[in-house]
Amino acid sequence: MKKIEINSSFFTRNRKNLAALMKSDSCAVINSNDIMPSNADGSMKFIQNSDLFYLTGIEQEETVLLLNPSAKKDDMKEILFIRDYNPELEVWEGKKYSPEEASRVSGIQTVLGLSRFEDMLHDLMCKYENVYLNTNDHDRAANIVETRDLRFIARLRNRYPIHNYFRLSPLIYSLRAIKSPEEVELLQKACDLTGKGFNRILKFVKPGVWEYEIEAEFAHEFISRGSKYADYEPIIASGESSCFLHYISNDKQCNDGDVLLIDLAAGWGNYNADMTRTIPVNGKFTKRQKDVYNAVLRAMKGTIAEMKPGKTAIDIHMVTKELLAKELVDLKLVKPEDVKDLNKKSSAFKKYYPHEVSHFLGLAVHDVGGFDEPLKPGMVLTCEPGIYIREEKIGIRIENDILITENGNLDLMKSIPVEAEEIESIMNNR
Ligand code: GLY
Ligand code: MN
Ligand code: MN
Repeated sequence: MKKIEINSSFFTRNRKNLAALMKSDSCAVINSNDIMPSNADGSMKFIQNSDLFYLTGIEQEETVLLLNPSAKKDDMKEILFIRDYNPELEVWEGKKYSPEEASRVSGIQTVLGLSRFEDMLHDLMCKYENVYLNTNDHDRAANIVETRDLRFIARLRNRYPIHNYFRLSPLIYSLRAIKSPEEVELLQKACDLTGKGFNRILKFVKPGVWEYEIEAEFAHEFISRGSKYADYEPIIASGESSCFLHYISNDKQCNDGDVLLIDLAAGWGNYNADMTRTIPVNGKFTKRQKDVYNAVLRAMKGTIAEMKPGKTAIDIHMVTKELLAKELVDLKLVKPEDVKDLNKKSSAFKKYYPHEVSHFLGLAVHDVGGFDEPLKPGMVLTCEPGIYIREEKIGIRIENDILITENGNLDLMKSIPVEAEEIESIMNNR
């Protein structure tokens, strides 16, 4: 995969913005993720902690960032600790960051070996009362596995029990929620690559293909361009499987007359796109499939029109529910009284539209951001309404990625085919 470098000025600015939110006379410690074990002596591919990446750009395990904004000397305000040089490890894993390289990538002047961390930390703990520590406070995070940050927090609180500890996450999340122009550019690139993959498979899908063959087509398009899948498992779901929200086995044959729901996207430079398209396997929607498709598309367009500064993600979800309530009645799936009270957890919605319409997008696919906070320019959210009719084997979801702007929004996926006729036309002209 291509190494996509972001200018170090981005990470320097993020640290500066974070330091401005910290109390005076305080320090902060942010740890990398672990390399997660699989089985026997195996391990998963390393995924960096998004907060540490946002502040340093360093993609290496056993990395620690120490922020000490009140330091008298400039070169002590930010200190990055990386793995000490280990020639034996190099034989197996290749080159790790040298201090010079880590400094160039992150813009941090002082880069030291990790063996220096404990002593320097102790000096700061003797000096400050207030310490910020990092936790994964995403409201849907399962947090079953103890992270490096959590192990560090337990150790620190044990050793220094009467310091004041503060959560770093609200400060970092408030910054990460607003995307800078560099981040928007990376997200746009991820969306554009996703579109290339989608145009490719529109010319490939036909009755008899297997879902995993479609996955391989996307992989070819992404990987040959130095990209990769976004950070979630691709969903390629034909027929009845289109109604299973987290279907990821992708192991069925696509049958004539079925719909095919594709929820997958490319990533670029650690930033994730998130797209869903639903297409007819044989290149032509049936009348019923098209009616449901256009109902979802109208709901998506109506929702996007309301995604603007001041509205909250919860407001947006209510807009979609209102739009889909009307569509579900028109499609004769429910009676008006079934969807009268949108606030109620109605069984009609539970059955035909069981999820929400939007989530924040960025370094994480379900990125940080407050669902009850007013949207601001620079936020990026998905818009992904759906209608799932299991008894008819029709699951339709359409998902675009939307940047909130001063006056409204910009659809980062506006050039990816979405009209039913456009999709049919591309599928039939190959
Ligand atoms: N692909 C995950 C989602 O749409 O939220
Ligand atoms: Mn999504
Ligand atoms: Mn998705």
